[in-house]
Amino acid sequence: MHTLFTKLPPAVTALLLQAAAFAGVLLFTRAATMQFSPLLFALLCGALAAIFSRVAGLARWWLFIQFLFAPALVLVLALNIPSGFFLAAFLIMLVVYWSTFRTQVPLYLSSSKVWQTLETLLPEPQPEKNFTFMDLGSGIGGVLTHLAKARPDGRYYGVETAPLPFLLSRLRIRLSGYRNCQVKWRSLWSCDLAPYDVVFAYLSPVPMDQLWHKVKSEMRPGTLFISNTFAVPDHPPQDIITPDDLHHSTLYVWRM
Ligand SMILES: C[S@@+](CC[C@H](N)C(=O)[O-])C[C@H]1O[C@@H](n2cnc3c(N)ncnc32)[C@H](O)[C@@H]1O
Repeated sequence: MHTLFTKLPPAVTALLLQAAAFAGVLLFTRAATMQFSPLLFALLCGALAAIFSRVAGLARWWLFIQFLFAPALVLVLALNIPSGFFLAAFLIMLVVYWSTFRTQVPLYLSSSKVWQTLETLLPEPQPEKNFTFMDLGSGIGGVLTHLAKARPDGRYYGVETAPLPFLLSRLRIRLSGYRNCQVKWRSLWSCDLAPYDVVFAYLSPVPMDQLWHKVKSEMRPGTLFISNTFAVPDHPPQDIITPDDLHHSTLYVWRM
C-alpha cells in the first residue's frame, strides 16, 4: 500500500483515502443497520481516513487534515453559504496555485532582504557585456523587477506556470517599463539553463534533487546556481548566506 501511494501526489492520495474511508463507513453502517447523525458519520470517516493515511505513509500533518476534512464539510454545509461562494474560492485558488497539488511548490515570495543579497551575488559589471539571470518559478516577478532596477546591465528572465502570478508579473514588468526583463508562461522543466549566468530558484524540498540534475547537466562552468531556503540533498553548496529576514531565509550558492 505504501509503495502504491508514493507514486501519486500526496493530495491525490489524500482524496482517494477520503473516498475509501467514506465507502468503509457507509458499508459498516449498512451492514450493522445503524444510523448516525451526519456529524458522527463524518467524524468516523475522518478517523478512518487518518488511519488509512498513516498506513499509506502520508506526512504527519496530513493526518490532521484527513481527520478534520469530512467534519469540516458537514459543519460548513450547515451554514448554508451560497454554492457560488465555493466555486469562486475554488477558481481563485486554481489560478493562484494551479498545479501545486502535483508540483508541491506553492506561491510564496522571497523577502526584500533576499533580493538585496542577490544583488551582491550578480556578476561584476563589464563594459558592453550584459549578464543573464533566470528565476525558476518567478511568482509575481518581485525578484526580477527589483534586480532589473538595481542592475540594469543584466537581462532578467522568469518562467512561471500559475496563471494569475504569471499575468501579474507581466503587468508589473509592463507598467514599470523594464525592457531588460521578461517572463514566460512555461514549466521550468522545459527551460534550457545553458544561456544563463545566474539561475535562482525558490521552490520546495520536493523538486531539489531533480533540479540539481538539470542544473548540473545544463549550466555552464563558472555560472551560479542559487537556491533560496531549500538545499540539495548530498550536494553541499560552496557558500551559505543568511540574509537575516523574517522568513529566516538561507541562500545556498553553487559555482558550477
Ligand atoms: C515559492 S514561489 C517563488 C516566487 C519567486 N521566485 C520569489 O522568489 O519570490 C515558487 C513559484 O514557482 C512556481 N512553480 C512551481 N512549479 C513550477 C514549474 N514546474 N515551472 C514554473 N514555475 C513553477 C509556483 O507557481 C510559484 O509561483
